[in-house]
Amino acid sequence: MNYEKKCVWSILFRLCHWGFALSIVFLVVTGFYIHDPWTNTWIEGGSTFPMANLRYFHFLAGFVFTASVLARIYLYLFGNKQERVLDAAPVTTGNVKNLFSTMTYYVYATDCYEKRLGHNVLAGLTYLLTYVVAAAQLVSGFFMLYPESTAWQSWGYPLFGSQQQARFVHHLIMWYFLLFVVIHIYLVVWNDVRSPQGLISSIFNGYKFKPKNDSSAKA
Ligand code: HEM
Ligand code: HEM
Repeated sequence: MNYEKKCVWSILFRLCHWGFALSIVFLVVTGFYIHDPWTNTWIEGGSTFPMANLRYFHFLAGFVFTASVLARIYLYLFGNKQERVLDAAPVTTGNVKNLFSTMTYYVYATDCYEKRLGHNVLAGLTYLLTYVVAAAQLVSGFFMLYPESTAWQSWGYPLFGSQQQARFVHHLIMWYFLLFVVIHIYLVVWNDVRSPQGLISSIFNGYKFKPKNDSSAKA
């Protein structure tokens, strides 16, 4: 079968993905340390400062995470066709149909599957939810990071109640990301194996493949 090569993800989109993904790996590891330091803490204040250093790396990764989320919001509004919010949100009849057909395909109830260049709608909706959760994570993070800032504190207190409650919300949200990563990696590999579109390589090089003259492969 002949395939056409189509550029689907811009360089900014791919940078966002890897900025987001790698910063989360750092944030989870350093976050676990902040929660429950596993080094012998009496070395703190000697010649090494593991907690201070890991907190510093947590905040650095936090800024990469924030930049990736902001850039992705920009792409939701001004990115290419596949990157815009309406492409994967269930707001058109075609997208609602795709949402249900993807679910039936995922539970092996059918082999028919509408191939799309962008995300399928189930994935797109999950990613949208993930960015909403990411916004809550960074807001609770900045609220804890700048206790002296009236801008962050004036609405942070009504929202979270106290610093400790924000910390609890922040901790719970970490588990959302851990769950997301496991399911996400399983599903991208599963999709890549079942449908030869070049899904995984597309998040590195930006290209996907669509069968020539295949009317079911929607642009
Ligand atoms: C081995 C590691 C990973 C691979 C191979 C990978 C691959 C991919 C691929 C192929 C897509 C596009 C899927 C589609 O069209 O539906 C995607 C999207 C996405 N991935 Fe990953 N991913 C990885 C790790 C991660 C991690 C660790 C995270 C963060 C927790 C993450 C978060 C996302 C998000 C949020 C999207 C949606 C992109 C958007 O629309 O903004 N990924 N990933
Ligand atoms: C997916 C993203 C993130 C994850 C998984 C994460 C994870 C964590 C975890 C597990 C903790 C320890 C909380 C506890 O005691 O249980 C923590 C603390 C903290 N995080 Fe994050 N975090 C993320 C993003 C951010 C961002 C964007 C910022 C803002 C720069 C931030 C700032 C902080 C602060 C200020 C603390 C408290 C440090 C302390 O109490 O000494 N985090 N984070």
